[in-house]
Amino acid sequence: MAQADYLARRGQIETYFDRTAVDAWARLTSTAPVSGIRATVRAGRDRMRATLLSWLPQDLTGRRVLDAGCGTGALAVEAARRGAHVVAIDLSPTLVELARERVPHDLGVGRIEFLSGDMLDPALGNFDHVVGMDSLIHYHKADVVRVLAGLADRSGASILFTFAPSNPLLAAMIGIGRLFPHGNRAPFIEPVREETLRRLIASAPQLAGWSAERTQRIASGFYTSQALELVRR
Ligand SMILES: C[S@@+](CC[C@H](N)C(=O)[O-])C[C@H]1O[C@@H](n2cnc3c(N)ncnc32)[C@H](O)[C@@H]1O
Repeated sequence: MAQADYLARRGQIETYFDRTAVDAWARLTSTAPVSGIRATVRAGRDRMRATLLSWLPQDLTGRRVLDAGCGTGALAVEAARRGAHVVAIDLSPTLVELARERVPHDLGVGRIEFLSGDMLDPALGNFDHVVGMDSLIHYHKADVVRVLAGLADRSGASILFTFAPSNPLLAAMIGIGRLFPHGNRAPFIEPVREETLRRLIASAPQLAGWSAERTQRIASGFYTSQALELVRR
């Protein structure tokens, strides 16, 4: 049942990012002009990416980093510029192709291997650090913890990810949204309270060797997301 839920949601996410929203996403993640609201989202996402990158060692030479749900690859590029060997994977082959096209030529000793598929694929191997920026926000909290447990098996030092922090206003807005036909729009974001997530992480047997440490909420116009750092003890 749990696996079926995960696969169903993963299918919706793939359809959304590979087809429905692919043009909007390509534009949002480019430097092309966007409307005021989208500009606030872009600014918030830039701050989030910078926050996550600041939680990685400055020198990533020789480190393996998984950009889990890489989208158009901006975070992978920054990590590779700091020397990492990045495996950047996304469900959407279209976004991965765009990410490949956008890779600058001046990565220095770093490199990026782009793949389309599931971030949980064991064939990806092991990593020092895993970063999932806004790639788990559409999964139910139980699935988020299961995904983290799967990633933990293959991560040596840290897992950095973001979640949609729940607050009463957001919960009400999403509740109202669910009353209306959903059509072709985005898969629902699944907000979760930080305390709830920390409790679920602390009680997951597969995450027993990990502790939840730094956290940072970023709110910018229509963008609200919160980063959480899991560190191997
Ligand atoms: C909101 S976008 C964020 C993309 C990128 N991390 C960024 O911040 O620009 C979420 C991405 O996560 C990807 N994703 C969601 N679940 C995934 C999974 N199980 N495996 C790989 N990618 C996944 C989606 O396809 C989508 O491109």
